[in-house]
Amino acid sequence: MADAERQPLVRKRSKRPAFRLLRKQERAYRPSTWDVVILAAVAAFGILAWQISASFVRRHDDPRRRSYPGEKITWTSCGTLVDHQLECTNLTVPMDHFNSSNNGPDNSLHFTIPLIRLRGKNATDNINILLNPGGPGGSGAEFIWRWGAQLNTIIGENYHLLTFDPRGVNGSVPRANCYPTEEIRRELSVVRNKKIVEDSGELWAWAGNFVQACADNMGVHGAYINTPQTAADMNSILDAIGQDDMYYWGFSYGTLLGQTYATLFPERSKRVIIDGVVNQFSWYNNIFDDEDLTDTDNVFDGFVDECIKAGKEDCALAELASSKEQLREKLITSIDQLRDDPIGVYVNTSIHGVLDYWAVWYDGVFPAMYKPANWRTLADNLAALLKGNATAAFMAYSREGPWVSLFDANTVIMTNDGVSGPKNWPVSGRQELVKQVIDFYNSSTSRLFNTALSHEGHFEKQAWKIPRTHNYVPTKGVKTAHPLLVLTTTYDPICPLVSAKSANDAFVDSKIVEVKGYGHCSLAVPSLCINKHVRAFLDEGKLPDDYTQCEGDGNPYFGKSDDEKKGLVNLQSSSWTEEEKRIHLAQVELARDLWFKPRWQG
Ligand SMILES: *[C@@H]1O[C@H](CO)[C@@H](O)[C@H](O)[C@H]1NC(C)=O
Ligand SMILES: *[C@@H]1O[C@H](CO)[C@@H](O)[C@H](O)[C@H]1NC(C)=O
Ligand SMILES: *[C@@H]1O[C@H](CO)[C@@H](O)[C@H](O)[C@H]1NC(C)=O
Ligand SMILES: *[C@@H]1O[C@H](CO)[C@@H](O)[C@H](O)[C@H]1NC(C)=O
Ligand SMILES: *[C@@H]1O[C@H](CO)[C@@H](O)[C@H](O)[C@H]1NC(C)=O
Ligand SMILES: *[C@@H]1O[C@H](CO)[C@@H](O)[C@H](O)[C@H]1NC(C)=O
Ligand SMILES: *[C@@H]1O[C@H](CO)[C@@H](O)[C@H](O)[C@H]1NC(C)=O
Repeated sequence: MADAERQPLVRKRSKRPAFRLLRKQERAYRPSTWDVVILAAVAAFGILAWQISASFVRRHDDPRRRSYPGEKITWTSCGTLVDHQLECTNLTVPMDHFNSSNNGPDNSLHFTIPLIRLRGKNATDNINILLNPGGPGGSGAEFIWRWGAQLNTIIGENYHLLTFDPRGVNGSVPRANCYPTEEIRRELSVVRNKKIVEDSGELWAWAGNFVQACADNMGVHGAYINTPQTAADMNSILDAIGQDDMYYWGFSYGTLLGQTYATLFPERSKRVIIDGVVNQFSWYNNIFDDEDLTDTDNVFDGFVDECIKAGKEDCALAELASSKEQLREKLITSIDQLRDDPIGVYVNTSIHGVLDYWAVWYDGVFPAMYKPANWRTLADNLAALLKGNATAAFMAYSREGPWVSLFDANTVIMTNDGVSGPKNWPVSGRQELVKQVIDFYNSSTSRLFNTALSHEGHFEKQAWKIPRTHNYVPTKGVKTAHPLLVLTTTYDPICPLVSAKSANDAFVDSKIVEVKGYGHCSLAVPSLCINKHVRAFLDEGKLPDDYTQCEGDGNPYFGKSDDEKKGLVNLQSSSWTEEEKRIHLAQVELARDLWFKPRWQG
């Protein structure tokens, strides 16, 4: 088959495996496109069927158009989500917020970014909470469709939820993209990248082309796709909706955006929540980010530990070892063997392939560390693999093509933000770069996942051709209009507690609330306690006096009862109110959903 033949022998591993989970599942959540015929008919006959429940003012020429007092933009109705109205618009923002002389004659150079809003039913004060799902490269539009219903339940009806595709991302125009077409991406983005020493010659040569293509394909806009500009875009959004104060909840990379915003615009930062924190000092200042993997091995140890505790009834791996130390060793050794001896898996003439170390470890185990609610499935797949049947692991972890159609926002934003390019990262040649990268891996806090950022990320960063145009410098002692609320789990595989502390140090009077447990961002662990802190903060600006820990609710790992297996507490016997039960259910849904984009994953 033509397609199978075109499948290259080596594939470019996504730097951010969780994006690939996103890709696998994205289809079902796409908003439907307009039924143009019906729309036209409705308009022509003037049958305006809108129930005027909110204070919107209808535009008479188009029943889907809405505008609101105090706002400078108009919206188009773009569907409903569990009985809530969604509305969309596009906002034009200057290419360079910080130096308008770069914006061309008549300010002709700009970005257009899509906004999407889920209307709260009791948002009497018309306060919009801006959300960012992470990435970098995560789409706000996709986020709302996928998670908006649950977040609305969690946050309550008193706020509108507003999110956006950041400049360069998804529906933004132009987009961060290093290839002129997807067809060409499929051909040219492939590079052998598994073994740092053996593959470095090809990687070095390939990266030189890649960075040139990025610079050429994006032209003048490429240099302005960075986080400080996106932070300034958030002010354009506030201005467009006539809101003075920033209300914000950012996850993962969204915490980098939130910290950047709060540093640049402290006077508007009234209610900023950062959840699953990135160390902004490392992000902007360091060639190698040395902090993000601080707790990754601890999460893996947690997986093994919880498995042994759960026993073989509930964790299929438990029967393979008598202690957590033994199971850990066995898993690491067995999977490591796949480096040199991958397994051929044959299902039928159209489904067969090779299951190797990188697929199991970085497309299977590593993403599962983000969401412990899915550990049971991971344990099932690994147990079958260790017992000699690799089919389930192959089907789950090996079968995605290499072409992540997220375009290049992730790479472009990270690389434009940070220390990149030969001037900032001088090396005498490939050998020296390889040596530096190996030294970095060898000194990593993670012994198990130290190449989680796949090798080509370093090669791209070193060779990067687009100049850094921002002069943002993270600082300490930032006094915001209201202190930040900082959320974290105890052990986050990619945004560790120690990074939450770096934000806590940087922002005056900010407070950390830690939910005890494993996983990425507070939402990995259902907890009413966390919810109460979030609501008290948003509604009344209340922060705890001191460092605070919350318990999680239920058993998020390897539960026993039917309810527990779904991550639920026993709702019948709980003393919770109806609303608390709804919040718990929403939290459990989010805790199980692997879409959530991790930090470089989101
Ligand atoms: C925003 O712009 C895109 C084209 O760039 C268009 O397809 C979309 O319909 C616009 N959205 C709205 C709400 O006008
Ligand atoms: C603004 O941009 C112009 C044109 O690129 C440049 O000459 C000028 O030095 C910049 N101004 C500042 C304050 O950076
Ligand atoms: C609606 O909001 C007002 C003011 O924020 C509050 O007093 C009231 O309880 C809310 N009603 C509902 C049903 O949530
Ligand atoms: C942006 O994301 C939405 C939601 O996943 C998707 O439907 C849409 O096609 C994306 N837009 C572009 C231009 O890729
Ligand atoms: C191979 O197996 C898959 C999954 O079971 C099935 O959907 C497909 O039709 C099979 N293909 C052939 C050629 O048998
Ligand atoms: C291997 O596992 C697959 C399910 O993933 C199952 O369909 C198959 O029968 C198993 N093979 C053997 C030989 O047990
Ligand atoms: C350093 O890394 C190389 C290549 O990954 C590896 O072979 C070697 O054992 C490491 N050395 C140490 C001290 O970890």
